[in-house]
Amino acid sequence: MHLDVLNGVTADFESARRLKVVFQQGWNHPDRVKGWVGGALHAEFHDPGCRQAWKDALSEAAGTTPSDRALDLGTGPGTISSMWAELGFRTTAIDFAPNMLEAGQRLAAERGLTLEFIEGDAEDPPVGERRFGVISTRFVLYTLPHPGYAIRRWVQLLEPGGKLVLIGHDRDQGQASGSTEVRAPRKHGWQVGEDYRAALDRLPFMDHKASDLQVVMEAAGMSEIRKLAVTGLDEARERLREDQPEVPVGSTTPYIVVGRK
Ligand SMILES: C[S@@+](CC[C@H](N)C(=O)[O-])C[C@H]1O[C@@H](n2cnc3c(N)ncnc32)[C@H](O)[C@@H]1O
Repeated sequence: MHLDVLNGVTADFESARRLKVVFQQGWNHPDRVKGWVGGALHAEFHDPGCRQAWKDALSEAAGTTPSDRALDLGTGPGTISSMWAELGFRTTAIDFAPNMLEAGQRLAAERGLTLEFIEGDAEDPPVGERRFGVISTRFVLYTLPHPGYAIRRWVQLLEPGGKLVLIGHDRDQGQASGSTEVRAPRKHGWQVGEDYRAALDRLPFMDHKASDLQVVMEAAGMSEIRKLAVTGLDEARERLREDQPEVPVGSTTPYIVVGRK
C-alpha cells in the first residue's frame, strides 16, 4: 500500500483523470462485460445456493441499519446491489461503465427486481442529499486513484449508525487481495492494453489487503470494524461444481470488512 492513501492522491489531478478514462474504457468494453458476467469471479451469482450464502453474509454484515436504503458502488452487473434488493433494501447502484449497467438492468429484470441504476463516479457518487443505511462495494477500491478520499466520502453518505461493507477476496499467497487484475496479457477474451496495464502500477490500493481497509475505515471515524467470511459458500460452490461442471466456479475466498458510522 502506498503511504499517501489516507490523503488519497495517486498523482496530479490530470493524471488521475486520465487513469479513470483508461479504466472506464476498459470496463465498458463489450467483451470485458461479457467475460465478467460469465467469468469465475461472477458466475456463482447466477446460482441460487451461492446467492443464499452471500445474502446471509450481507445480512450479517448490515445487521440493524438506520434505514432500508442501500447504495452499491462500482456495481458492475449489479452483483451486490441485486442481493440488497432481494433482501428488501431500496437499492441504488452506480457504475461508470454504461455497458456494465445495461447488463445489470437486464439481470435485474430477469430476477424481477427493481433497482435504481445510475451512471457515475464511485469516488463522488451523484446522489445529491440522499443518505444510506448501508453502502457497499466489491472489487472497486483497487481501481480508484483516490481510495482514501473515496472511503471518507462514502462515510459522509451514510446515515448515523449506517454500515460500510467493503468486499474483497484472499487470493493465493503472495497475490493481491482486493484486486481482480492479472498484470499479464490474457490469452482469451478481452485483451489488456498496454495503457491499462501501465495504469495498474499507479494505483495506491492495487495490492491492498483486508487489514488496510480496516486502517482506513478507522481513520475515517468508523467503529465496530470487523472482518467476516461468507459462511456456507464453499459448500454451495461444491454443489454447483457437481451439478454444473461447465460453470467456471471461483476458488478465491471472499472477505467482508464492515464498519459502523
Ligand atoms: C471488478 S468489477 C466489479 C463489479 C461488481 N462490483 C462485482 O462485484 O461484480 C469493477 C467495477 O467497478 C467499476 N468502476 C471502477 N472504477 C469506477 C469508478 N471510479 N466509478 C464507477 N465505477 C467504477 C467498473 O466499471 C466495474 O464495473
